[in-house]
Amino acid sequence: MAGGVDGRYAALVATPFERIGGDRLRAVLEDFYDRVFADPMIGFLFQGSDRARLIDKEWELAATMLGGEVRYTGRPMRQAHARAPILGGHFERRQKLLRDTLDSHGVPSDVTETWLRHNEKLRPQVTADAGSGCDHERSDQRLRDEARRLPIASGTSAPSELDASRPPSPRGGENLLKIGRFPG
Ligand code: HEM
Repeated sequence: MAGGVDGRYAALVATPFERIGGDRLRAVLEDFYDRVFADPMIGFLFQGSDRARLIDKEWELAATMLGGEVRYTGRPMRQAHARAPILGGHFERRQKLLRDTLDSHGVPSDVTETWLRHNEKLRPQVTADAGSGCDHERSDQRLRDEARRLPIASGTSAPSELDASRPPSPRGGENLLKIGRFPG
């Protein structure tokens, strides 16, 4: 099924692999690896890698993940990525480049989501790093706990809600400065 399945009922009767089509999948991966190799954030990790092999192996892997009857003949994910110091942010950048590439090739959004979701499941085999996401709720809670723990001068009280627009009180303000809430 090289050309892809068109038509109103394709989404119901065909696998994501059949809907994207083998040829289009290869074109997507050619474009994707052009972007990856040239990327200022992750391109350096691919220096010296065999681009043609990467595309072949990733084609097999993606085809399998998208329901194609294809066998993946590359190295296991953990082994293939053991040499490169891959961080969570690198993983997220690759996902972003893949999403952009799929969008620009007009791949249906549910196929894109399926592919990205499968990749996400492979994340622990590619990187041990948790990622670059920031948990704002947790960090605000940590700041509130810290402000309560620090000694506050008599006559002032620890703010229940930390608020940068609130003027710092003499000693309490110092304390908040110490934990980095207000600029010095
Ligand atoms: C789930 C996400 C990923 C998938 C599905 C994937 C897939 C693959 C595949 C199929 C190969 C070829 C394996 C082989 O040669 O046998 C490979 C190699 C490689 N991948 Fe990934 N990869 C992923 C994430 C990443 C990330 C985030 C990076 C770095 C930003 C990365 C960097 C590399 C490099 C540098 C190689 C070549 C290693 C070498 O030349 O020995 N990969 N990847």
